[in-house]
Amino acid sequence: MNSNSRHHTALPNPNGWFAVAWSKDLQDGEVQPLHYFGEDLVLFRTREGVPKVLDAHCAHLGAHLGEGGRVVGDSVRCPFHGWRYDGESGECTEIPYCEKIPPRARVNAWPTIEANRMIFVWYHAEGKAPQWDVPVLPEFADDEWAAPRYFDLEVPVHMQEMAENNCDPVHFHFVHGMGQIANDTKIEFGEDGRFFRMTDEGERETPMGTFHTILERDSWQLGISSVRTKGIPGAGLLLFTSTTPVDPDHCHSRWVFTVTKNLADIAGEEWVQAMSQGVQQDMQIWSNKIHRARPVLCEADTFLAHFRQWVKQFYTEGG
Ligand code: FES
Ligand SMILES: [Fe+2]
Repeated sequence: MNSNSRHHTALPNPNGWFAVAWSKDLQDGEVQPLHYFGEDLVLFRTREGVPKVLDAHCAHLGAHLGEGGRVVGDSVRCPFHGWRYDGESGECTEIPYCEKIPPRARVNAWPTIEANRMIFVWYHAEGKAPQWDVPVLPEFADDEWAAPRYFDLEVPVHMQEMAENNCDPVHFHFVHGMGQIANDTKIEFGEDGRFFRMTDEGERETPMGTFHTILERDSWQLGISSVRTKGIPGAGLLLFTSTTPVDPDHCHSRWVFTVTKNLADIAGEEWVQAMSQGVQQDMQIWSNKIHRARPVLCEADTFLAHFRQWVKQFYTEGG
């Protein structure tokens, strides 16, 4: 055991909704293999356009439904002997060479939702049904907003470490070279304690001039958040992100950006580039850090303390 593993506390998968694909990357009738939450999964889209996710391995002899499986109606057909599984229930609905379907002929079906240009599944450590909804952001359906830009990356760290950066204003100074340590950030929790919003206000230079802008960072659960820039008359920027556990030490983060059309030419590309390059600066820290279950925090680390308290609700006790 090296000194890293001696001090490292492994974190389990949190409960919630997690993006497993971009909407644009899954055509009607298409089948894809996935690997998230340490599990093999199959993702497919029915001919009517509805995405479905099931456990990957066929109840019969264990073939992978995402490797050569075919969409048939609302179900996926195993490439090995043709057993069909309903996308909603995971039940086997047809064995082409046998009348009687054994009662245990089923695979686990994952609640699946499409929103904000992504396909999400619900994960719960104890298999409980969804306890909240994925937030649907109006900007993605608004004609005033430009076509979105996409960015994704796999990060060699548990997703909680990535999310924690959001509540770590000091790291923006040291890791990202930002001039001042922000000290006027406000935090507000929603009624159920699950949602929170952090806001920073101030005079900022923008491509449209200098305005009193509000940077609004919303979190709906561990792994789903957005950043909105408000206060520029008739214009705005939005970043929506979802981060998904791949296994205990890796996560996959997807970011979708959109700006009002009047900003697209002057700020769109630069903003996407700045944000996606910024995350590279975090990589060295993430790749080499350990998780401290009981970190030593100082007086100024108030948001980190809030964050650690907040994340507890997303874990089933004992993992
Ligand atoms: S392994 Fe899937 S039908 Fe036989
Ligand atoms: Fe960062």
